[in-house]
Amino acid sequence: MLTITKYTPDSLYEKLKNIKVASGACQFSRKKCAEIAPLINEINELKTQKNAVILVHSYVSPEIIYGVGDFVGDSYKLSKNAVESDADIIVFAAVRFMGETAQILNPDKKVLIPGELDGCTLADSITAEQVKRLRSYYPTHTFVCYINTTAEVKAECDVCVTSSNVYDIVETIENDKIYFLPDKLMGQNLQNEMHRRGVKKDIQYYGGTCYVHEEYDVEDLQKIRLEYPEAKVVSHPECNTDVCENSDYVGSTEQMLDYMRKEEAKQFLMLTECGLSARLQTEFPDKSLVGSCTLCKYMKSNTLESIKQVLTDPQPHHYVNIDEATRQGAQKNIEMMFHYVAKAKS
Ligand code: 13P
Ligand code: SF4
Repeated sequence: MLTITKYTPDSLYEKLKNIKVASGACQFSRKKCAEIAPLINEINELKTQKNAVILVHSYVSPEIIYGVGDFVGDSYKLSKNAVESDADIIVFAAVRFMGETAQILNPDKKVLIPGELDGCTLADSITAEQVKRLRSYYPTHTFVCYINTTAEVKAECDVCVTSSNVYDIVETIENDKIYFLPDKLMGQNLQNEMHRRGVKKDIQYYGGTCYVHEEYDVEDLQKIRLEYPEAKVVSHPECNTDVCENSDYVGSTEQMLDYMRKEEAKQFLMLTECGLSARLQTEFPDKSLVGSCTLCKYMKSNTLESIKQVLTDPQPHHYVNIDEATRQGAQKNIEMMFHYVAKAKS
């Protein structure tokens, strides 16, 4: 849990001063901190008054993570935090599918989504109708969906996975026929990892991609390696197979941070959204970044102003609404993930 303090412009500046990502577009001057500190303090007051908690994905802007966030992490960690919270209102500063996950697991709480562009190219790439059709073509396959899917799609699948547990869960599933959706590149990485582990499975996959991660290119990676031979390359499994195979570490956003925390190297090339680079600059000031990162427009559409709005005057589109039959189907799917995580560990 992040510790929330009442910020002065100076203490906020001290917290955020090391951040310089997206070619300097995301940077915090003393003047900017003086402008946003009152709004941050106002949101923190509102949270207490309304018994609300703010969950923030690591890709969201740093003033939100460090200013008003109660929990920050990857989609797996945040799904666990959503269950543990005893707040009446969950504000999920991320994208809609993550807010839906919180609502699926907390039917009695209000879940509010402040992001104005709340989509995700992966979650938007497949519908429940398409899953039903695929199931008729692959009737004996276990349908494994990435958490980056809508509640309706989850309700049609057998097991949910996140980037932090996809390999261990698929290895643990009893069936050797797997249909993985919607991420094509993660599906290909999954095939390679099962091969590396000596696990024989027939893995079919769908054709979706993340528009941020698919852009990373192995040739650019190799050029950076020549220029900075000491740097460790850290990538996300939504990147293509060439990139992942040429990385020093591949994992979920939280696992990437853990790797950097433990790794002795001082320089890193981060092949993921810029939010993680900002976290590295804030939390590990003795380590530095090489190369550049890219932005997810959906995650970055969360703002301090939109968070204040959902706490004071939420509009119908800010609420997560899932019909009860779909919610129950999706809950089963997510609970199967918790079941297989525990089984994989035992
Ligand atoms: P993580 O669960 O690794 O944070 O990934 C979520 C995501 O959307 C990555 O693009
Ligand atoms: Fe979706 Fe990609 Fe944005 Fe993650 S980075 S939320 S997968 S569009």
